[in-house]
Amino acid sequence: MRIADIQSHIDHELLTKNQIQDLIRKTAAQISRDYAGRDLLMLAVLKGAVNTLAALSQEVSIPAQLEFMSLSSYGSGTTSSGSITVRQDLDCDVRGRHILIVEDIIDSGRTLRWLVDEMKSRGAASVEVFALLDKVCRHEVQVDVKYPGFVIPDEFVVGFGLDYDERYRNLDSIAVLKPCEYQDEDQGEQS
Ligand code: PRP
Repeated sequence: MRIADIQSHIDHELLTKNQIQDLIRKTAAQISRDYAGRDLLMLAVLKGAVNTLAALSQEVSIPAQLEFMSLSSYGSGTTSSGSITVRQDLDCDVRGRHILIVEDIIDSGRTLRWLVDEMKSRGAASVEVFALLDKVCRHEVQVDVKYPGFVIPDEFVVGFGLDYDERYRNLDSIAVLKPCEYQDEDQGEQS
């Protein structure tokens, strides 16, 4: 789906398909160099990171294992509390593995903080992070991001895996939703 298909729902396009592809290509080239000769495991958190993992993994020029986890963070309303629950775990042993966590967005940072610590506690040889989008102004905990994406403002964004109420994940760019699309339901909080 393209931006023109949902023009009436969006305020503006924040990142074009080309901008996203360009960053992903450059990041993939760096990852391919950094992990050359190592056994790379790319781990995405469902569902938002699926599009980013698909795009990034196809640009990486070394073999990589692709794995998924489903996590929930429970809190009041739509604001994450930091209490993370595993909905669907990995079905492989990560001991001694080089893990690259692939995320669509960092908001509070709590999901990534938990996941990095969890992979290390399970015995991973290394754990690094690529996040396509980063709402730096909303961080509540510190996360080290080896492969940074775009720093974005605190606006409600959809597309390239990011949803509102499970819609818009299949948009091929990143857009800011019109406030009237979500305001009545949840005051515009996003995570
Ligand atoms: C989003 C996103 C990250 C997390 C970031 O997932 O994909 O996993 O929130 O938020 P945090 O930095 O505050 O922890 P979400 O819970 O919306 O689920 P989804 O990916 O299925 O949409």
